[in-house]
Amino acid sequence: MIIIIDFGSQTTHLIFRRMGEMGVKSTIIDPEDAINQINKLRPKGIILSGGPASVYGKNSPTVDKKIFGLKIPVLGICYGQQLLVHLLGGEVIAAKIKEYGPAFVSTKLKERSRTSSYYGEAKPALFVNIPDKFKVWMSHGDEVIKIPPGFRYLATSENIKAASVGDEKRNIYGVQFHPEVQHTDYGTEILKNFLNICQENPESREINIKDLVNDIKEKVGDKKVVMALSGGTDSFVAAALIARSINRNLIPVYVDSGLMRDDALKNVTQVFPKLFGMKPKVLKVKNVFLKKLKNIIDPEKKRKAIGMLYVRLFEKVAKRQKNVEFLGQGTTYADFIHSKSTKHAALIKSHHNVGGLPKKMKLKLLEPIRYFYTDQVRYIGKKLGLPEEVIYQQPFPGPGFAVRILGKITDKRLNKLKQADGIVMDEIERAGLKNKIFQYFAILTSTKSTAIKGDGRFYGEIVAIRAYTTKDRMTADWAKIPFHVLQHISTRIVNEVPEVSRVVYDITTKPPATMEWE
Ligand code: XMP
Repeated sequence: MIIIIDFGSQTTHLIFRRMGEMGVKSTIIDPEDAINQINKLRPKGIILSGGPASVYGKNSPTVDKKIFGLKIPVLGICYGQQLLVHLLGGEVIAAKIKEYGPAFVSTKLKERSRTSSYYGEAKPALFVNIPDKFKVWMSHGDEVIKIPPGFRYLATSENIKAASVGDEKRNIYGVQFHPEVQHTDYGTEILKNFLNICQENPESREINIKDLVNDIKEKVGDKKVVMALSGGTDSFVAAALIARSINRNLIPVYVDSGLMRDDALKNVTQVFPKLFGMKPKVLKVKNVFLKKLKNIIDPEKKRKAIGMLYVRLFEKVAKRQKNVEFLGQGTTYADFIHSKSTKHAALIKSHHNVGGLPKKMKLKLLEPIRYFYTDQVRYIGKKLGLPEEVIYQQPFPGPGFAVRILGKITDKRLNKLKQADGIVMDEIERAGLKNKIFQYFAILTSTKSTAIKGDGRFYGEIVAIRAYTTKDRMTADWAKIPFHVLQHISTRIVNEVPEVSRVVYDITTKPPATMEWE
C-alpha cells in the first residue's frame, strides 16, 4: 500500500489511478493527518503530491518532518519535491523562468555534472530502464536552488538544475515534473521504479462493472433517478450504468438550451431510444437560457448561472413524478477536480455540473463515473456494449457554446459561432482527422482587428481555433493540424461567417491553458 499525501494538485488523483493501474493499492490523505495515517496503515511508500501553494508562503500545507525518518521511501512530485527539500534543509525560490507544459530532462552524467554535485556513474534507481533524455510535462513557478545534505541532483532540464533530486541512501526522491500525467514520456516507468524501490509487489486489477452496478443499486434502492443527458459519451455511459442497475426507474431528460451542437439532440432523440428502449424528455428552453445569460460576461458567473438553470429544470421534472430522489450526471474526474473539489486544490473553473451547481439542491447527486477519466469512461462504455459512435464522440462541455463566446451572448453571436464551429468540424472531418484529435472547435474572441475585404477597410471579430490531443483531459497538447487544413478552415471562416476579420490558431498546451477559453 502506498500513501499519497494531497497538497491540492489537479493531478493527485491521477497518481492514485496510476497506482491502481499497476495493481498497487493506494490511498489519498490530507497532509494534516499524515503521521497518524502512516502509523496506522504502515505503507511501503509515501508520495507527496504537487499543489498550487509555495513552500515559503504563509499557511502553505506541510507535513510533519518525522515522515522522513520512518525508513519508508518517499517520492515528492512538484510541490512535493519542493516541500521535502525545504523541510530537509535545502532552498526553494520563485523561479526566474517558470515552466508550464513540455520540457526535456536529462539524467546524463555529463549534463548533471554541470551542476555542483552529481551522482556518480550508476543511473539513479528512479530512472533505470529509461533513456537519458526524455520529454516531461512541467507546471511550476518555484524552483529548488539548494539541495539538502545527503542529496544529489538526479536530472536537469534546460531551465532548471533540480528536475529531480534524491538521497538514495535514505530513499527520498523528488521530481519537479509530473510522472503521473499522460504527456510525460516514461512517467509510468518512473512510478514503477519508485514502487520497486518501495518493494511493493503489484497484482493486476481491472475496472469491475459489476461493482459499479451494485454500488448504484445499493445507493438508489427503489427510488427514481432523473438522468441529465447531454448527448455526449459521459452521460450515455453514466445512464447505461444506472439503467443496468435500476432499469425503469431511470427518467432521462435532455435540456435543449440552444447552446449545444446539433448532433446532441439527434443522439438523444434517435440513438438513445434505440439503445435504451425509452424516450428522453426534451425541454425546449433556449430562450430561457439566452435571457438568463443576456448580460453576463464573467466566465465564472456564466458557468454558475448555467449550472443553476440546469438543476432547477431537472428539479421541476422530478417534482412532477413520484419517488424521485436522485439527479444522475455524467460527471468525470476532470470536471470534479477543476472545480476545487479537494481540500488544498485551487479553483480553476466551475464546471457547470460540479462547482456551478447551486448550494441548495432538492435532489441528491448520483455520479457513477465521477472518479474516472475519459479513456476509462470509454472502456466502461465498451464493456456495457455501447456503440463506437457513442463512445468515441468528441466531448462537448455542458455550458456549450456559452463558454466559447467571450463577451456578450446573443442569438446572433450564437449563430455566428455555430457557423464557424461547423466549418471547423467539416474541414477536420474531411481531412480524415476526426479520430486523431480529441476536441476541436472555434471561439468568438470578442476582440476586433483590421482587415481588407474587397479593397475596403473592414474592422471585425477575431475567431480562434482550438484543437488538441489528450486521453484524460488532465494534460493536453495542441494538435499539429497540417497547414493546408488550417488554411481551408481560415479561408472558409473569413469568407463565410459574417463580420470576421481574422482567424488565429491556439498553440498553447494544457497546462498552462485550459482547453476551453473560459
Ligand atoms: P478545461 O477547459 O477545464 O476542459 O480544460 C476540460 C474538459 O472538460 C470540458 N468542460 C466541461 N464539461 N461542464 C462539462 O460538462 C463544464 O462546465 C465544462 N467545462 C469544460 C472541456 O470541453 C474539456 O473536454
